[in-house]
Amino acid sequence: MIHLSFAPLEGLTDDVYRRAHAVEFGGADVYYTPFYTTVPEGLTARDRREISAALSAPGAPPTIVQLLSSRASDFLRAAAFLAGCGCTVLNLNLGCPSGTVTAKGRGAGFLAKPAMLDAFFDEVFSGLSGIAPQIQVSVKTRIGYADENEAPYLMEIFNRYPIVELILHPRLRTDLYRGRPRMSVYRQMAGMARMPVCYNGDIFRAEDLQDLLAAFPDTHRVMLGRGAAANPALFRLCRAEPVPDLPGRLRRMHDRICEENAARMGNGRNLLCRMAELWKYQAYLFSEDPRPFLRRLYRCTTLAEYRAAVSALFSQATLRKDAAYPPSPAL
Ligand SMILES: Cc1cc2nc3c(=O)[nH]c(=O)nc-3n(C[C@H](O)[C@H](O)[C@H](O)COP(=O)(O)O)c2cc1C
Repeated sequence: MIHLSFAPLEGLTDDVYRRAHAVEFGGADVYYTPFYTTVPEGLTARDRREISAALSAPGAPPTIVQLLSSRASDFLRAAAFLAGCGCTVLNLNLGCPSGTVTAKGRGAGFLAKPAMLDAFFDEVFSGLSGIAPQIQVSVKTRIGYADENEAPYLMEIFNRYPIVELILHPRLRTDLYRGRPRMSVYRQMAGMARMPVCYNGDIFRAEDLQDLLAAFPDTHRVMLGRGAAANPALFRLCRAEPVPDLPGRLRRMHDRICEENAARMGNGRNLLCRMAELWKYQAYLFSEDPRPFLRRLYRCTTLAEYRAAVSALFSQATLRKDAAYPPSPAL
């Protein structure tokens, strides 16, 4: 049985989204939070409140908290707090390609400083046994910063530590999300890994997963990101499970997210921006060229206008059975 996880997508897969997805679609074994940046006191008071509320909310699905960190002492303080919230696995982000993150040597920026990364792991794993022995650490990483040849050296570092799972997104930081995943490097790293490996990247349709498993029969763990954001039924499709009443599920998931966010952030611009983020992916389910709908959405200035645009979409559009993100390279 393949283990499927929902990737962290900053700006989209917050606690409201994760709960709504789990209730209406499910099929993911675990959800990852978008990253929380560690600070000298571990996590900011706001992040601590947000995380403990999210993890203890009724209906919260199994969730792994992701941390963005390059200072072991900060990471350990965050780990002590998260152990108190009942976490048993924490995920370290070594993949974020954003310039503001990498400039601080975090995310994929940490990959460019292998000696510091090695020292970070050394301090984290030796510190955890005293501070939070129940916590295990998984790592979500790219294959290097700017050169495929970094991969085996990084893998040697990872192999020195009791990393519980290595999630590999086979792109370099400099690739951002462009081009195809570098599957020969994935093969090389997965072959070297002493820990379980989870594949992540460009699984947009159930057929993509089948192709992956045919080419890499030893793959037992896969993380889905944009493909699941575009089609929340993707986990079920990957498991060859039926998805009755797809439009009804999408509508209920949408309405739940919209209402819960409205209660949290009010009916203003912030809510419309948050909902637009959902449609950036999901619109592909409704139309091969979602741009006219998205343009209408971006023009909305009130919740009433937004609701009218969404209702028109649900009543007029036909869901595409073969929908996948992105529908064609031209868009
Ligand atoms: C909008 C957006 C936000 C993301 N946020 C995060 C994040 O918070 N943490 C993380 O590790 N990766 C993040 N990622 C990367 C995804 O988790 C995933 O690794 C990437 O999209 C490749 O997988 P996919 O092809 O299945 O989407 C983000 C990607 C996108 C497009």
